[in-house]
Amino acid sequence: MKFYSVKMRASLNDKHVSGGERITLEESIQKVVSELLARPKEFDFINIKIEKINNIKFIEKSLDVKTINVKNHKEGNEIALKLLEEVGIDREIAKVYIDLLHTGANPDRENMRGAMIITKSGKRVEKDRYRGVRTTNVDFLHREEVKKILLEKKYTERTLDALALSTKNLNHPDIIAEYCISDQPDYTTGYVAVNNTYYRINPLKEYSNPKGGRIYFVKDDADIDELYKYLQEESFLIKEVGSLE
Ligand code: COA
Ligand code: AMP
Repeated sequence: MKFYSVKMRASLNDKHVSGGERITLEESIQKVVSELLARPKEFDFINIKIEKINNIKFIEKSLDVKTINVKNHKEGNEIALKLLEEVGIDREIAKVYIDLLHTGANPDRENMRGAMIITKSGKRVEKDRYRGVRTTNVDFLHREEVKKILLEKKYTERTLDALALSTKNLNHPDIIAEYCISDQPDYTTGYVAVNNTYYRINPLKEYSNPKGGRIYFVKDDADIDELYKYLQEESFLIKEVGSLE
C-alpha cells in the first residue's frame, strides 16, 4: 500500500496559528486536504504539503491514557514532578525547565517553535533554542475509528493528535518522558507521558497564560543527531489505541 503524508500549516501576520498532518492512502488525499484546510479559523498564509512515504513503519499500540483532575495548576505540576521522578528525573532539574516553559523558553522569553530537549543530568541540548525539535510524520492507521472512540469518552481531537505525537516520542528508546502545555491562553490541560502512559493533567497551567511548549527528557548518552532524524523524518502509523481511562 502506498501512503502519503499530508501536512498543513497556517499563519497570520507571520505568526503560526494552526498546523496538522495526516498519513493517508492515495484515494483519501482530497478528503484529508479539505479537512486540514478547514482547521485554521483565520489565516493570511496556508501551506499544504503532500509527499509519498517510501518507508512507513508501524507502532502496535499508542500510550495508555489516564486523566488526573486537580484543584489548580500548582497541584497539577506537583503531580507532574512526581511522575517525572518515578522515571528517574531529578525534581529540581525538572522544575527549572518546567518553570521556564511557563514563562517563555526561547532566548527572548517567548514560546519556542518546537520542543526543548533536556538530558537526565539537566543539560539543555536542542540545536536551536528558538526552534527546538518538532515531532512529525505520525498518525493513527485507523484515525477515524480512534477519533470516534476518544470522542465517545469525552476526549478531543487535540488529544488524538497529541497522543499520536507523544506515542512516537516515547517509542524512541532514548526519550524517557515528555511534558507539555499548550501555548493557547485558554487551554490549561497539559500532559506528562511516562511509562507507556499519557497522563492528562487538568489543569497543568494557569488560565490566560500565553506561554507553552514541550520538554523531551532524554538519556544522557542520547545521540541528538539521530534523535532529530527519528523525530522529524521517520514515518509511523499507530495500529491501535491503548487503554483509555
Ligand atoms: N509552531 C510554530 N511554527 C511552526 C510550527 C509550530 N508548531 N510548525 C511549523 N512552523 C513554521 C516555522 O516557522 C517553520 O520553520 P522552522 O522549521 O524554522 O521552525 C515553518 O513553519 C516550516 O515548518 P515545517 O516543519 O517545515 O512545516 P511542515 O509543513 O513540514 O509541517 C506541521 C508543519 C505543523 C504539520 C508539523 O510541523 C507539525 O507540528 N505537525 C503536528 C504533528 C501532529 O500533531 N501529529 C499528529 C497527527 S495524528
Ligand atoms: P500545541 O500542542 O500545538 O498547543 O503546542 C504547544 C507547544 O508545543 C508549542 O508552543 C511548541 O513549543 C511545541 N510544539 C508544537 N508542535 C510541536 C511538534 N510537532 N513537536 C514538538 N513540539 C511542538
